[in-house]
Amino acid sequence: MTGRQTGSGPRGAGRVALIGGGFVADLYMRSLARHPDITVLAVHDHDPARLGTFAAHWGLRGVARLDDLLAQLAPGDVVVNLTNPRAHYAINRACLEAGHHVYSEKPLAMELAQARALHDLAAARGLMLVSAPCSVLGEAAQLLLGAVRRGVAGVPRLVYAELDDGFIPAAPYGKWQSESGAPWPHADEFAVGCTLEHAGYYLAWLIAMFGRVERVVAASAEVLPDKPGATGTPDFSVAALFFESGPVARLTCSIAAPHDHRLRVIGDKGVLQVREAWNNAAPVRFHRRFVLRRRLIEDPFGRRLRARAPSHPKVGRWGAAAMNFALGPAEMLAALAQGRACRLTNDMALHLTEVTLAIQNAGRDSGAQVIESTCDPMEAAAWA
Ligand SMILES: NC(=O)c1ccc[n+]([C@@H]2O[C@H](COP(=O)([O-])OP(=O)(O)OC[C@H]3O[C@@H](n4cnc5c(N)ncnc54)[C@H](O)[C@@H]3O)[C@@H](O)[C@H]2O)c1
Repeated sequence: MTGRQTGSGPRGAGRVALIGGGFVADLYMRSLARHPDITVLAVHDHDPARLGTFAAHWGLRGVARLDDLLAQLAPGDVVVNLTNPRAHYAINRACLEAGHHVYSEKPLAMELAQARALHDLAAARGLMLVSAPCSVLGEAAQLLLGAVRRGVAGVPRLVYAELDDGFIPAAPYGKWQSESGAPWPHADEFAVGCTLEHAGYYLAWLIAMFGRVERVVAASAEVLPDKPGATGTPDFSVAALFFESGPVARLTCSIAAPHDHRLRVIGDKGVLQVREAWNNAAPVRFHRRFVLRRRLIEDPFGRRLRARAPSHPKVGRWGAAAMNFALGPAEMLAALAQGRACRLTNDMALHLTEVTLAIQNAGRDSGAQVIESTCDPMEAAAWA
C-alpha cells in the first residue's frame, strides 16, 4: 500500500459493503485503508470470477448474491455501489428498498426520471442517497470553497472549468489495469461518455460553491465517431451554467482535446486557480489582478493557499487519480455517528445528476439558433 496520511480528517467509524469489484473498487480499497475505523464487511459482484479475484486480493468476504449481502447489513451500515453506470439505478433501488443508506458512484441513474424516483424513495425511507464524486470534500476543493466564501478573489463572476482528458482513443488504454487486475472498462467508458463519467468532478465543486444551477445552455457531440466501440455517445460537451446566486460557469468535457483539468474562478480582485481535478492535494492559487503602468496583469505565479490544519488522509496516485475515494462514505458514517446532516446531501446528488444529464443529452439542437446565412471556407495562401 502506497500513500501518505497527512491529517486526521472526518472520522467515519462504521461499516460499509461494496457492490462491484472492478477497476474503481481497488481505488476505494486503497482509500478505505486510510480510514482504519471503517470496516469493509463484504463485497458482491455478479461476475463470479471477478468477485473471487477481488475478494482474494483484498482478503474480503465475497457474497455471490446481492440479496444475501443486503440481508447481512444492519441499519447504520452504508452500501457503496461501484457497479457500471447502467446498473446503478437497479442496484441503488434494491439497496434503498432493503432499508440501507447508499453511496453511489456517478451517475445515480442514466435517466432523470429514475434519479428522481430514487431520491423520492430515499426521502420516504429516511435514508441517505449520496452520489460520487466526493473529491468536493477533498483538500483542493475545500481550500477553493473557503477562498470563495472569504471573498479572496472578490465577487466571483465567471468560472472556466475544463475536464479535457487528452486524445484517449490513441492512448494505450488496453494496458490500463487496476491493482487486482481489472482492465480499465474502455467500452463502457466510451458508451457512457466522458460527460456522464466526468462532469461531476467539477460540477460538484461548482454546486458546493454557488448552489443551484437554474439554467443550462449546452451542446454535446460525438467528435470521434471512428473510435473503437463508438456508440454515438457524446465524447465532447460544453455548457454554460447559470447559477441562481449569480455566477456563470463554462464547463467543458472531452476525450479529444489535449489534457486540461484547470478550474479558474474569475473574480473582481483576481483569479483562483486549480490545475488538477483528480488530485486532492492539487495546489490552489490566487492570482491577484493589478495594474502596472499601462498594463493589466494577473500575477503569473500566484499565492498558494494552505490548509490551516490537517485536512484528511491522502492516497497515493494510481493511474490518473490521487484521490481519497473513501471521503464520501466516511462522511456519511460520521454524520450517522454524530446524529448530524451529511455534508453530501441527497438533494446535491439529484441536482448533480440532473445538470449532468442536461449537458450530456443537449446534442446539437437544444436551444440552438439555426443560422441561415452561408459562407464558404477559405483556400490557404499559395505560400502557406
Ligand atoms: N475506472 C475509473 O477510473 C473510475 C474512476 C472513478 C469512478 N468510476 C466509476 O465507478 C463505477 C465503476 O467503474 P469501474 O471502472 O470500476 O468499472 P468496471 O467495469 O471495472 O467494474 C464494475 C464492476 O461491477 C460489476 N457489476 C456490474 N453490474 C453489476 C450488477 N448488476 N451487480 C453486481 N455487480 C455488477 C462488474 O462485474 C464489474 O466487476 C462507474 O460508475 C464509474 O463511473 C470509475
